[in-house]
Amino acid sequence: MSNSSNRLIIFDTTLRDGEQSPGASMTKDEKVRIAKQLERLRVDVIEAGFAAASQGDFESIKAIASVVRESTICSLSRANDRDISRAAEALAPAERKRIHTFIATSKLHMEMKLRMLPDQVLLQARNAVRFARQFTDDIEFSPEDGSRSDEDFLCRVLEGVIEEGATTINFPDTVGYAVPEIFGETIRRLRERIPNSDKAIWSVHCHNDLGLAVANSLAGVMIGGARQIECTINGLGERAGNTALEEVVMALRTRGGYYNLDVGIDTTQIVAASKMVSQITGFAVQPNKAVVGANAFAHASGIHQDGMLKSRETYEIMRAEDVGWTATKIVLGKLSGRNAFKQRLQELGIDLESEAEVNAAFVRFKELADRKSDIFDEDILALVSDEEQSH
Ligand code: KIV
Ligand code: ZN
Repeated sequence: MSNSSNRLIIFDTTLRDGEQSPGASMTKDEKVRIAKQLERLRVDVIEAGFAAASQGDFESIKAIASVVRESTICSLSRANDRDISRAAEALAPAERKRIHTFIATSKLHMEMKLRMLPDQVLLQARNAVRFARQFTDDIEFSPEDGSRSDEDFLCRVLEGVIEEGATTINFPDTVGYAVPEIFGETIRRLRERIPNSDKAIWSVHCHNDLGLAVANSLAGVMIGGARQIECTINGLGERAGNTALEEVVMALRTRGGYYNLDVGIDTTQIVAASKMVSQITGFAVQPNKAVVGANAFAHASGIHQDGMLKSRETYEIMRAEDVGWTATKIVLGKLSGRNAFKQRLQELGIDLESEAEVNAAFVRFKELADRKSDIFDEDILALVSDEEQSH
């Protein structure tokens, strides 16, 4: 694959950058559940964590690498041998693995945080990529705080890491400072100036501090020629979050005639992924959130309702069912049977291992339905999560 190809890689970092949201930490089992849903969503790359950050992260990456077969599994690591070795060890069971190494390149970060000179940073970046190559030939490199880094220095670092074998160059807007035209143009110029730039796929990683993460990502693709977007479910992530997967993917699909890019995502799994991440992290999705908010496809005004009854296209640019909202929903309650319950589990992306587990969950569902007249998706997700914790 190359930067001139029409294929766009979707790299999900819900389990790494998403988990960096204060209060969003997840257990190993919860991460495995989300990773399986990301696989159903047909995400190309799952960043499963930061192996050297904690024993818990290490174990989670290893568990995900052992069960997910369709997506590439990735671990983040700082640009040093210890972190990279830890990442490689956690990723060992994966069918396809990627090591993502990074070091800051802005003057501010190098001086104030790393207390390193630019030439030391350049050397460390090159050494890290060379070291990582012994474990896999799928290496991603990120110049942290890229959008505030000096372009001449970025050219030296990025040319150097590509020479060492980095196959993806990820350009991060770490603090959400970028605006679309400048961000896209910077990537375009970097690609033009770096002689070996086309030996790597270019990627964008945007934060949402100014509410521009999706717009910047799209500019990175259209103006800059990037062919990978890093994103998270519900836009979860540090501070104001990251590019929301559901928004950027639906923009690419809905305006497919303009973007003309092939995205491998099964969009009908989006709502299940959103609900799962929200339930597990406890981060509610705002009702007016694009694509996955409860009101995203609700029409309240009389004029809109009238238009909708005549033709859905009058007020709908996407179909609710294409992102996984079920058009006619069976309301679950105490009279519901095992099949309806099992069907809802499937719609919510919950795959219980055995019939015995389905039966146990069904018994708990019936107990709950005796106390509560309508059972919502959130109740079922909570019920299954309680079931896991009791094991
Ligand atoms: O925002 C950022 O710079 C990151 C890097 C580690 C890619 O998350
Ligand atoms: Zn980030």
